[in-house]
Amino acid sequence: MKILVVGSGGREHAMVWKLAQSRRQPVLYCAPGNAGIASLATCIPIKSDDVAGLKDFAIQEKIDVTVIGPEAPLALGIVDEFRTARLRVFGPTRNAARLEASKSFAKEVMAQAKILTAHSKSFEKIDDALAYVERQKLPVVIKADGLAQGKGVIIASTQDQAKQAIVDSMEKAVFGQAGKQVLIEQFLDGEELTIMAFTDGKTVVPMPPAQDHKRVGDGDTGLNTGGMGAYCPAPLGTTEIQDRVRREVLQPMVDAMARLGSPFQGVLYAGLMVMHGAPYVLEFNARMGDPETQVVLPLLKTDLVDVLEAVSEHRLDQLSVEWHPDATVCVVMASGGYPGAYQQGIPLSGLPPATTLSDSSMVFHAGTARRGHEIVTAGGRVLSVLGRGRTLLEAQGEAYRVVKTISFEGCHFRTDIAHQALKA
Ligand SMILES: Nc1ncnc2c1ncn2[C@@H]1O[C@H](COP(=O)(O)OP(=O)(O)O)[C@@H](O)[C@H]1O
Ligand SMILES: [Mg+2]
Repeated sequence: MKILVVGSGGREHAMVWKLAQSRRQPVLYCAPGNAGIASLATCIPIKSDDVAGLKDFAIQEKIDVTVIGPEAPLALGIVDEFRTARLRVFGPTRNAARLEASKSFAKEVMAQAKILTAHSKSFEKIDDALAYVERQKLPVVIKADGLAQGKGVIIASTQDQAKQAIVDSMEKAVFGQAGKQVLIEQFLDGEELTIMAFTDGKTVVPMPPAQDHKRVGDGDTGLNTGGMGAYCPAPLGTTEIQDRVRREVLQPMVDAMARLGSPFQGVLYAGLMVMHGAPYVLEFNARMGDPETQVVLPLLKTDLVDVLEAVSEHRLDQLSVEWHPDATVCVVMASGGYPGAYQQGIPLSGLPPATTLSDSSMVFHAGTARRGHEIVTAGGRVLSVLGRGRTLLEAQGEAYRVVKTISFEGCHFRTDIAHQALKA
């Protein structure tokens, strides 16, 4: 069987690595992939948002299943295109992916499904937004409606900041089309948690709870990033919270999408704020998270190919999905300057050869490329180093043990991944 993974980050490396362990021994392709993925899959130089190019490749190469990593091709309708061409694909259709691609659409469906979330109001006219925000308590949250690469949310602590954020988004169009509509949202004060779930449009199979670290600096300080690390399971996601999220968030959302005629198939990601012991939805994503995937997938005991098939054949209810009871921690090693401007093409040293990695650690590549005999940086987030153990403390020790052996000029990483869980 031939499987194509679309994407090029740490998330896709973790997917390819997991698929490579399948007893079904699939032949793996990744588009476009990176230098680490290249040791497990044939990398094809087609960009992840080149829907037509990917479709032609899948037809030509007779790919059995295509798995979509990032959100952009989903929002462009890659799943619809593949289905029309009778190609099997793992991910939601364009309509279903609107749960991520339009925050106001997600809010509408949450309201219909009575899912707990922050109060918010959506605006298409700047004057209305500016008038409304004046009457809101501070801090207040301003969100671009569309996909803004994790930069579209501003938490404003003054009216001036809030108005500036509205003007930047709606008038100056700093997020392009994605910010023409904004949401003004109530600020929720709590602790964040991610729970992702496999779903075939009907059955929901939640994954263990994870927590990521968005801020660049130790102690959750500094600028927001794509994610500097993650750990799993997050103790904040108690059995009670997991149960409530399944019954009160994930299942109602999947049911609501089916009722709307846009059944959601793939991975549904719930970004949550746990406040006063209750799970409030901050957002939905229509795919797996990065770096959450790197800590969650290694704990999946069931063959991932079996899960992909059960989802695409709508028989997830017949598969028992099992998880290892271990803990994982992943530390992102980033380029100097990231999340601001950074250099690329810097050689990496000390990378352990893939074959020396044991059960307790793994180096997933995020932004790397091959240049002759060297592996060089090719992105802001360069590596996701995974440690695994019986406890989070053990997993954290493993991750940092490996991080210390790798270096590149300008490299920085957080030294406190999983601190929220370990301080307890
Ligand atoms: N209502 C809210 N109250 C407090 N913090 C929020 C709220 N909405 C978003 N945030 C913060 O902003 C981050 C990004 O918001 P999110 O809705 O996840 O958008 P995106 O991931 O698309 O940028 C969240 O991870 C959270 O830290
Ligand atoms: Mg988010």
